Amino acid sequence: MKIGIFDSGIGGLSVLHEAYHRIKGQEFIFYADTDHVPYGTKEPEVILEYVRGCAAFLMKQGVDAIVIACNTATSVAVRQLRQELEIPIIGMEPAVKPAVEHTDDKRVLVMATPVTLREAKLKTLIERVDEHHRVDLLAMPELVRFAESEQFGSAELKAYLETQFSKVHPEEYSALVMGCTHFNYFKDLYREFFPADTIFIDGNLGTIRYLMKQLGLPREEGEEEEEIRFTATDQLLEHTTYFMSGRPVQAEEELQHLLRLHNRLEEMRKF
Ligand code: DGL
Repeated sequence: MKIGIFDSGIGGLSVLHEAYHRIKGQEFIFYADTDHVPYGTKEPEVILEYVRGCAAFLMKQGVDAIVIACNTATSVAVRQLRQELEIPIIGMEPAVKPAVEHTDDKRVLVMATPVTLREAKLKTLIERVDEHHRVDLLAMPELVRFAESEQFGSAELKAYLETQFSKVHPEEYSALVMGCTHFNYFKDLYREFFPADTIFIDGNLGTIRYLMKQLGLPREEGEEEEEIRFTATDQLLEHTTYFMSGRPVQAEEELQHLLRLHNRLEEMRKF
């Protein structure tokens, strides 16, 4: 089967990365809309048009399902895409429910883009699951730029995190929700602010499980071993075709960039 996965940029690689761990023997097409990144600070009508472009491209590649590996795009466009296309469309939303379920008397912090925080989808979700009003929200738009420019430890990034986290009290949180797929690249740095028992939750596994269910893909035996399936560029390419806003990724330098990002994501699984 052919599975299309798209995001405004490289955040969606974290979803693909999870898919590598869980799904064997299928073909992936990954589309990063890097000409239009970021989505999370733009108007919903503009984002909807970008999303339609990404989906149309993937449909032309003959995909059997599309994963919107972007919370922002999902909150704005998942309903329309489902109406307009005949194949399964899998969206993402911040993993607020498991975070609230995990928490006893402490709080939950959801980080996302300004658009995701503003849209009705997240508000409805919080109203539904946050019975005791324990969820706080924090916009982190700049993290998208830091991820896109592969800045994972710069002084500017650290200063930004300090400013943002000074708006909350990290010790009050038992869960930190990655409400944007780009935020998965910085888990080691969040740990410098949050106590060791604060869990970091992303929606990637839930999304991939749902995709597998939709496509009738069985769980693999020994899947839980977390074995990494790619160790070199050629293996990575064996299962996936990568596109940046419609242009195939072929140059060695670009492939090395993707490999570095996958390695970073693998590293982040420890935090
Ligand atoms: N990665 C996207 C998300 O999950 C959005 C990043 C952006 O383009 O602003 O929300």
